[in-house]
Amino acid sequence: MRKPLVVGNWKMHGELASARALALAVRHAEGHCVGVEIAVCPPFVHLGGVLEVLSGSEVASGAQSVCEFEGGAYTGEISAQMLRDLGVRYVIVGHSERRALFGESDAHVLAKLRQVQAVGLTPILCVGETLQERQADDTEKVLARQLEGVLDAPDAAALLADLVLAYEPVWAIGTGETATPQQAQAVHAFIRARVAGAGPLRAAALRVLYGGSVKPDNAPQLFAMPDIDGGLIGGAALKAADFIAICVAARARLGLA
Ligand code: 13P
Repeated sequence: MRKPLVVGNWKMHGELASARALALAVRHAEGHCVGVEIAVCPPFVHLGGVLEVLSGSEVASGAQSVCEFEGGAYTGEISAQMLRDLGVRYVIVGHSERRALFGESDAHVLAKLRQVQAVGLTPILCVGETLQERQADDTEKVLARQLEGVLDAPDAAALLADLVLAYEPVWAIGTGETATPQQAQAVHAFIRARVAGAGPLRAAALRVLYGGSVKPDNAPQLFAMPDIDGGLIGGAALKAADFIAICVAARARLGLA
């Protein structure tokens, strides 16, 4: 049984006070979400304050990115070890905004993933196609390319040992457009099948999250799909009530909601 996971990606929103208040609201609701793993990913500079608020709770923290290098003269960067020292559990790598706006290639993403795993944190690797790629019927080709760095690596088994995948169709991010549950399920099944080629046992245990305009009203249908193990939530994660409703919806995967 894969434990459902719901992750809030707060992106570059909020201030310290609002970040702490949001974290506190999520913390207060964790009793309604028993059986679901929850994580929040504030901006780097708010991680310390959020971790303080979440101290002693089951709600985990994540970072939204990380440097691809271990350490050194990389002005403005944050290393995986620094995140580990803070008490972070997850690190998002390869978010489409990083790929599109900050020039991160598949090779950068793989280097980041390795840094995260090297310090014992869990990467959440994002993959997803643009609207143009979907319309050209290239979705599977794009996803296969985004996954091949991990799946074709000589140490693929080790890379897969502690990894979460997130399918985030770029056309559904922040647009209010959501993949239908059937569209998302088809892609999730494709992803799991690809992973099975590199590690069949690992594929069965791997959590694949869906991200892209998940809201309280569409979460139940998405989470009812067999290969959707939770969500990576953007806009709705900034509203405590919405995020909590989505976490509660994930309990349906346990037969509880
Ligand atoms: P939205 O939920 O706002 O579409 O964002 C999804 C996302 O990018 C999460 O990482």
